[in-house]
Amino acid sequence: MVHVAILGFGTVGSGVAEVLATNGGLIDHRVDDLVRLKYILDVRDFPDSPYRDLFVKDFGAIENDHEVDIVVETIGGAGIALDFTTRALKAGKSVVTSNKELVATHGYELLQLARANGCSYLFEASVGGGIPILRPLTSCLAANELEQVSGILNGTTNYILTRMIRAGLTFDQALAEAQANGYAEKDPTADVDGHDACRKICILAALAFGRHVYPDQVPAQGIRGVTLEDVAYADSAGYKIKLLGRALRQPQGRVCAFVAPHLVPGANPLAGVEDVFNAIAVTGNAIGDVMFYGRGAGKLPTASAVVADVIDIAKDLKKDRHNGWEEGAPDLVVSADGIVSPWYIRAQMSAEQARRRCGDIQLLARGGAPAGEAAFLTAPMAEPEVRERLEGADVGSLYRVLA
Ligand code: HSE
Repeated sequence: MVHVAILGFGTVGSGVAEVLATNGGLIDHRVDDLVRLKYILDVRDFPDSPYRDLFVKDFGAIENDHEVDIVVETIGGAGIALDFTTRALKAGKSVVTSNKELVATHGYELLQLARANGCSYLFEASVGGGIPILRPLTSCLAANELEQVSGILNGTTNYILTRMIRAGLTFDQALAEAQANGYAEKDPTADVDGHDACRKICILAALAFGRHVYPDQVPAQGIRGVTLEDVAYADSAGYKIKLLGRALRQPQGRVCAFVAPHLVPGANPLAGVEDVFNAIAVTGNAIGDVMFYGRGAGKLPTASAVVADVIDIAKDLKKDRHNGWEEGAPDLVVSADGIVSPWYIRAQMSAEQARRRCGDIQLLARGGAPAGEAAFLTAPMAEPEVRERLEGADVGSLYRVLA
């Protein structure tokens, strides 16, 4: 029998319990053993829960129980979750998590710890919720040298942008709606300022390129500055504004990674990814382009990925999964300054001034545009060049165009 403990009975933790219960028969069949939930750790009381007999408040009960093989960490954050994960791995228990913050900030050391203790640390649910992406990246695409991983990695911001595009809501109105629907937290900072997408692109970059990329090495710009005017200008030329996390292979084993709003051409499949859906596009030197699409958040989709990791471990508790990456380095991540792309610019200037500054441009139009406002797309250039050309100008928005 394989025994499981869940740490944190929030949205994802309770979803994991539900999937283990609902699909128990087929999970046992697939593992060829009985997989049983033995403990749920939470500081709160759940007297009416069907699992009420499983609750404990002291992690020591799980840590010291030799029957517990797999610990599911759905507490979140890099505080107590780091302590419990470290202790579980040191006790030889494999850990499965959806906690992208912990993986992005401490993944390398936790993977090392897992190997040293003959167990596994798996985190499929940390990126893209229910979308299978991490295992395909490292196993199905293992024959490729990966060139680029880019995606819509945050469901909340994609919902907000979709509502701005489709319903003409302002950013504040769309955020309030996302909060009312339970997508955005009361404090939406991690989502709307790009920190959540940043952690996810760090994990993808580490798996794609083999070395730990830390969130403080990756510049992240969120969507607070995106206006309805930008949405309308983009739309007029067949583009959608999307928050993208991007990681690009660079010479000498280096990596370029960043998070920022982009104008995505309508013909690019990422442009059609709406609401809380996520999508991750991967380019490999043998496969070319491949895209992964699905529900990037939510109780059961995320639990689906967590329980898949539980099943993988339960099938062979002692297998060395080699699912790690090498140590990071301060000079591993290079600036995006060298990445050439067209740019979208909205500024207080005439069309003539825009042409004088930026040369060959495509002017954009929208109904109700005030005199003195210009919006346009430039030819491909690097960011320092575009900033130099705009020096001293009153610039409202400056976003990359995905080529
Ligand atoms: N807040 C995240 C999102 C949840 O909106 O995508 C899933 O990581």
